[in-house]
Amino acid sequence: MSGTHWKTTPSLQVAVDGPSGSGKGTVAIAVGKELGLPVLDTGLLYRFAGWQMAQTNSESFDEQSVLKVLKNTLPHMQWRATGVFFKSKDCTSLLRGEDVGGLASQVAQFPNIRTILLDVQRDIASQGCVMDGRDIGTVVLPNAQAKFFLTASQRERARRRWSQLHIKDRELSIEQVAGELRERDERDMQRDCAPLERAKDAIHIDSTTMRVDEVVDRMLAVLERRDLIQPT
Ligand code: DC
Repeated sequence: MSGTHWKTTPSLQVAVDGPSGSGKGTVAIAVGKELGLPVLDTGLLYRFAGWQMAQTNSESFDEQSVLKVLKNTLPHMQWRATGVFFKSKDCTSLLRGEDVGGLASQVAQFPNIRTILLDVQRDIASQGCVMDGRDIGTVVLPNAQAKFFLTASQRERARRRWSQLHIKDRELSIEQVAGELRERDERDMQRDCAPLERAKDAIHIDSTTMRVDEVVDRMLAVLERRDLIQPT
């Protein structure tokens, strides 16, 4: 943001968790760009699984059926800082809708699905990254050198999601988005396995009234104070 160039500690891992609309994805991208680190959006992995289940047209699904589908499809998936590719085609934009978000939250409840995706996440993170999700600071990268937990008021989070989604769906109301977010938050916070929660050593930032650059500056200040990054 400042035009400063930074030297980062080798294999620096920055964990950014929070609910949908908290701004975690946007600030993760900005911090990654500032530090020259890959940014990994773990929600895309769960969205990929949810999207695959949507293709099966089944009314409801259990853990076994998701496992079966992932066994056949994961070998054809590549997850990168740039997005998700399936059979070499970029499918990231197909995964961004709120309907796929809801399916992602459903498959994310299953412990065995999380275990499979955990390995995928840890493998790629070992080189250093900014990783965003729900359980990065608590489960995926418990030893990350810096952890942030972002929140914002429900109304502000719904407004942010709505402004992203209504470009594609003009009929969508902010109340509808707020209802879907509430349902998803509840499921993500109440599941038994790796629920959405703040890691004890994560720094909480309420972004309700903050601009993106203000949040990013605060995060960079924490990293600098811990001597994890130095201006060059
Ligand atoms: O961040 P997102 O909205 O793209 O995530 C979609 C869903 O995936 C979210 O509602 C819960 C699940 N998820 C998860 O359980 N753990 C993560 N690390 C990331 C996402």
